[in-house]
Amino acid sequence: MAIERAGVVGSGLMGSGIAEVLARAGLDVVVRDISEEAIASGRTSIEKSLEKGVQRGKLSAEDRDAALARLHFTVDMADFADRQLVIEAASENEDVKKAIFAELDTVVTAKDAILASNTSSMPIIRFAQATGRPDRVLGIHFFNPAPVQPLVELVVSELTDPAVVDAMDSFATDVLGKVTIRASDRPGFVVNALLIPFLFSAIRMVEAGHATKEDVDLGMVNGCAHPMGPIALADRVGLDTCLFVGQSIYEETGDPAAKPPVLLSRMVDAGLLGVKTGRGFYDYSAT
Ligand code: 3HC
Repeated sequence: MAIERAGVVGSGLMGSGIAEVLARAGLDVVVRDISEEAIASGRTSIEKSLEKGVQRGKLSAEDRDAALARLHFTVDMADFADRQLVIEAASENEDVKKAIFAELDTVVTAKDAILASNTSSMPIIRFAQATGRPDRVLGIHFFNPAPVQPLVELVVSELTDPAVVDAMDSFATDVLGKVTIRASDRPGFVVNALLIPFLFSAIRMVEAGHATKEDVDLGMVNGCAHPMGPIALADRVGLDTCLFVGQSIYEETGDPAAKPPVLLSRMVDAGLLGVKTGRGFYDYSAT
């Protein structure tokens, strides 16, 4: 089945990035969020990213305009009716995601459509079980910023049909131009199971006064050739997302390395969520 019509639930940091990737690959994309304000913000971030792509010589002005024309924004889940693939990228709240999957199961008419979640760490099987077609559900996990990061993690639940995984593997590589890896439905999959303990170790170092945040970041950028340091990366991922992912891994595995540092919890309590709110460990209010 050639996938030509896709849907994305959520137009936040990841949803807008995924929608951009799909539209740039030539798909017709419906993006749904809960309010006109959320939609406007998602649309603006896609426009900015496409513009940056043009400035960096990654796409032409014509391709930018064509990608924008392929994107349709809505607040109505019913607009997913004719989609062949829908990727859920709502906030990391299990009940919200389960409700979305239950509704997708009702509105997406083609029974062979694929329903995917971009969750960073939650069990895919719980979303699959909210539908009447758990074999058509899997995790398709993009990395931020989705238009730039090549990786897509395919998360295979106990009930995902292997043919669905193969179809999504071909789609992600051949159509989206991504690099894929496969992971079982276990906490943090592959990348976050490794990344979150690393980010938390860096935050604990700062919390303990062992090194400044600037020095932790300078150390990893200049000593290990990371494109950005772990504190700056946590700010970019979103401190709330880091917290949810850590909690989710810790609850199921008890791995102390994934236990969220108290400093992280307090910053989230304070609404200091990183780049998206203008302040996290660093101040982004001027950017
Ligand atoms: N469209 C297309 N290409 C773009 C682009 C856009 N909007 N923006 C940048 N690029 C390209 C540039 O042209 C450049 O390509 P080149 O190497 O071929 O010249 C490349 O991307 C990098 O460009 P810059 O260095 O100018 O990029 P920025 O400064 O804008 O961004 C960064 C830097 C890509 C964010 C880099 O710092 C980075 O890779 N950081 C690490 C990000 C990371 O680790 N992400 C994973 C987070 S974990 C996650 O998402 C999982 C979740 O579940 C928690």
